[in-house]
Amino acid sequence: MPGAPALSVERVSMRYPSSSRAVLDACSLTVAPGERVALLGLNGSGKTSLLLAIAGLVPFEGSIAVDGVVLSRTSIDAVRGRIGFLFSNPEDQLLFPRIRDDVEYALVRDGVSGEDVRRRAGAMMEVMGIAALAEGSPYELSHGQKLRAALAGVLIHEPPLLLLDEPSGALDPPGRRSLAALLRGRPGAMLMATHDLEFARWCCTRFVQLERGRVVRDTADPEGITF
Ligand SMILES: Nc1ncnc2c1ncn2[C@@H]1O[C@H](COP(=O)(O)OP(=O)(O)O)[C@@H](O)[C@H]1O
Ligand SMILES: [Mg+2]
Repeated sequence: MPGAPALSVERVSMRYPSSSRAVLDACSLTVAPGERVALLGLNGSGKTSLLLAIAGLVPFEGSIAVDGVVLSRTSIDAVRGRIGFLFSNPEDQLLFPRIRDDVEYALVRDGVSGEDVRRRAGAMMEVMGIAALAEGSPYELSHGQKLRAALAGVLIHEPPLLLLDEPSGALDPPGRRSLAALLRGRPGAMLMATHDLEFARWCCTRFVQLERGRVVRDTADPEGITF
């Protein structure tokens, strides 16, 4: 929605049913359209849980809105349509036997015509450097190629908000650099969970640090962030 933040998280708290401990504790965060924000913190600080809450994948207290749409039972499809989610393991989202079908899926689901689907998927796979792999199987790809294929499938419908969970974790140095360049070059907002501070600095202009499910730092200057 024009003028709305890409993401608004207001006093969000959650706990998993199996645990008495709050995983998110009155967590608040606003991301402007086009802003690239790193969500930093140690293992267990609540980064993945916050991304899952934003995508409506876990129950929470408080309020979340994506591109002006408040997340609720009735709006969940509208919210998910505004989000691109890259899971920490790209294999979790490569579901078809052929790479091309994974990249095209979101457009097919949205009823885009066959010719447009093929044209847009072809262009996206070129940008991602995976055009030559289009007819192959996900099982034939390296981790970095799987990540690019999953990202192509996520970005193809141009979501106003991209959520990324530890995208640099298993990449080699050239893979990290080229993924950072790719993420910097796209126009939409993103919230990237990572404990890779160097990668965060390459990609993001704002750094939000979580500790035990609370925002303890929110800064444009990553100097002095240690964890
Ligand atoms: N499915 C789950 N059930 C119970 N506890 C969980 C579950 N997933 C994560 N947790 C716990 O929630 C806390 C935050 O985890 P997580 O959001 O994955 O943190 P991060 O992504 O920052 O490493 C951790 O203490 C973790 O053990
Ligand atoms: Mg995590």
